Amino acid sequence: MVCLLILIVSLFALGYARIQSRRADMKLHEYITSIPAGFVDGGPADPDSTLDLRIALTQNNIDGLIKTFHNVAMLTAPAPETLAAVNAWLQAAGLNATTSTNTGDLLRLNTTVSVANQLLDAEFSLFTNTHTGAQSIRTLNYSIPVDLVGHVQFVHPTISFPSSAPLQSNSTIIARTNDDSISNPNATILARANHPAVDPTACGSLLVTPDCVLRMHTIPAATIGPPTGSIGVAGMNDLYANQADLKSFLEFYRRDITKHQAKFFRTVSINGGQNLQDITEAGLEANVDTQYTVGIAAGVPVTFYTIGREDLMLEEEALLNYLQTEEPDDLPNVLLISYGSNERLFSSEVSTRLCTGFAALGARGVSVIVSSMDGGVGGTKPDLKDDCPEGKFVPAFPASCPYVTAVGATAITLRSGHLWQVAADYSGGGFSIYFTNKEEFSWQTSAVQAYLRNLEHLHPEYDGLFEPKGRAYPDVAAVATNLAFDWRDKATMGSGTSLSAPIFASMIALINAERLAIRKSPLGFLNKFLYANPQAFVDIIEGELNLAYRGVVCQMLTSVIGGTNPGCKTEGFLTAFGWNPVTGLGSPMFDALKAAALAWE
Ligand SMILES: *[C@@H]1O[C@H](CO)[C@@H](O)[C@H](O)[C@H]1NC(C)=O
Ligand SMILES: *[C@@H]1O[C@H](CO)[C@@H](O)[C@H](O)[C@H]1NC(C)=O
Ligand SMILES: *[C@@H]1O[C@H](CO)[C@@H](O)[C@H](O)[C@H]1NC(C)=O
Ligand SMILES: *[C@@H]1O[C@H](CO)[C@@H](O)[C@H](O)[C@H]1NC(C)=O
Ligand SMILES: *[C@@H]1O[C@H](CO)[C@@H](O)[C@H](O)[C@H]1NC(C)=O
Repeated sequence: MVCLLILIVSLFALGYARIQSRRADMKLHEYITSIPAGFVDGGPADPDSTLDLRIALTQNNIDGLIKTFHNVAMLTAPAPETLAAVNAWLQAAGLNATTSTNTGDLLRLNTTVSVANQLLDAEFSLFTNTHTGAQSIRTLNYSIPVDLVGHVQFVHPTISFPSSAPLQSNSTIIARTNDDSISNPNATILARANHPAVDPTACGSLLVTPDCVLRMHTIPAATIGPPTGSIGVAGMNDLYANQADLKSFLEFYRRDITKHQAKFFRTVSINGGQNLQDITEAGLEANVDTQYTVGIAAGVPVTFYTIGREDLMLEEEALLNYLQTEEPDDLPNVLLISYGSNERLFSSEVSTRLCTGFAALGARGVSVIVSSMDGGVGGTKPDLKDDCPEGKFVPAFPASCPYVTAVGATAITLRSGHLWQVAADYSGGGFSIYFTNKEEFSWQTSAVQAYLRNLEHLHPEYDGLFEPKGRAYPDVAAVATNLAFDWRDKATMGSGTSLSAPIFASMIALINAERLAIRKSPLGFLNKFLYANPQAFVDIIEGELNLAYRGVVCQMLTSVIGGTNPGCKTEGFLTAFGWNPVTGLGSPMFDALKAAALAWE
């Protein structure tokens, strides 16, 4: 009997044969086997350095949370025995933790590296980000006492690294001149431009204005009646949204709506987040996010949630914690997050926890809309494209979470005198490595399988470079290339999914307002609805797309399928009819999407 038992145990342990905790009373909890790309290990961290540790307690009833819409706070609260067990452990080590979330599912304590090394049987080192030079104390593995398994979800900071990507879209300062005329087939419109200014209606490959965005995606310009619904904009990384820049942006590009809005957005501070209004403090990302929500979703109230600076994981956790306990009336019905990092930088436990938080928001009627990032199949950013371990594609988070809607990027191009919408070659897309439970994203299975069947023939060499069972993204795409905005008192132009995500978020907010007007609930979690309505999207296939331009839908130009999102020393994934990992279901047409949404349950 005994022999048999041992045999079974060792079979189970096979995969972990070499990976065990050094101490018998401890169990290895999380580990990575190598340092994430973009970081170098500078040796052991100073034992006296302070560590601001967070201990994430197992949440009580996650299955219940995803199925029910109410009382999320109660469901994510830890069980009393969890809190007692973890506190007993800390007290035995002479440590005192405070609860740092409203639901009590995260404990916080200040300690030193030497104490944490002992407590967690870890070896904290000082890592340097090779792109930014930023330093952070992390460990490659840690353990927890055997009897706390099941009570502790994860400890942070340990194996999840801070984002290595600089969170800024590419941008250029543009003079407001008529330079866009060469790409704009309607010269008469340009003549309307006053003073040495950009044509506020420019719609071409060199400059895309809000007016152009409205026409491309058939979004109504008219302000809807009384303000209904709302958009929440996540402000992270100490990037501030500037009201003066927004004002000049609206005065130039959306004169029609400035009249109706005294205050452009409301600011809510989370964990001491600020929103400094000195013009030199204006953050590119935050400006773009507020300008392309206030400036597109006319009349819908916008709230800027500015979160005190920590690493991205903690900022996301803080935002979720804040929203989780908001009263239903105070919740935005669309939440925009233009920040992200490579999926592998966060541990699977951390990603799962955050993703569960997004699921809870979706269940409470919030559509969570995120950028798919700007590095093609290489993850967050073009300059990090080659940080692909073993040449494998790098998915981005939170885009890879099944409970968010990820937005990719398109561009406008001029061909034979007509404007076409094509895939942007930086559009982030791919397949999650962590989220592989297909029941969580069955709404996309048939669309994705159809794509994968073709890919096998076109790119057999991609086999092994991505996880075909993973949650696939982006879900949709919108125009994101060479968009006009204001930044630090200057007319500026930039590109990136940081622009397409707010545009899509605005479309959903406007549609929610229409649903509310007919006494339907906001759409909430979107993906099931989107994949059930592919007719609301225009397929984006390089060189082939019909752009509804000034009411004229252009003819098909060619039938070449060529758009890709290069990265990791490959040409990336190809666009195709139907869903594809460059532009998702395609580019949304507001009128068709609205018709489908008003008919939706
Ligand atoms: C944990 O990481 C250290 C290096 O930081 C390494 O020496 C050790 O082998 C790792 N342990 C396991 C179980 O992976
Ligand atoms: C823990 O906190 C309590 C109450 O705040 C305090 O009285 C006690 O001295 C603290 N213990 C340690 C070890 O810091
Ligand atoms: C930990 O220390 C930091 C600064 O050293 C402080 O801001 C923070 O409030 C402390 N946290 C706790 C839980 O005491
Ligand atoms: C160009 O603009 C003029 C004036 O706004 C309009 O009447 C005309 O229909 C436009 N032409 C095209 C091809 O869109
Ligand atoms: C950003 O700029 C680089 C270099 O100028 C360029 O290669 C890349 O395509 C740009 N990315 C975006 C998103 O525009």
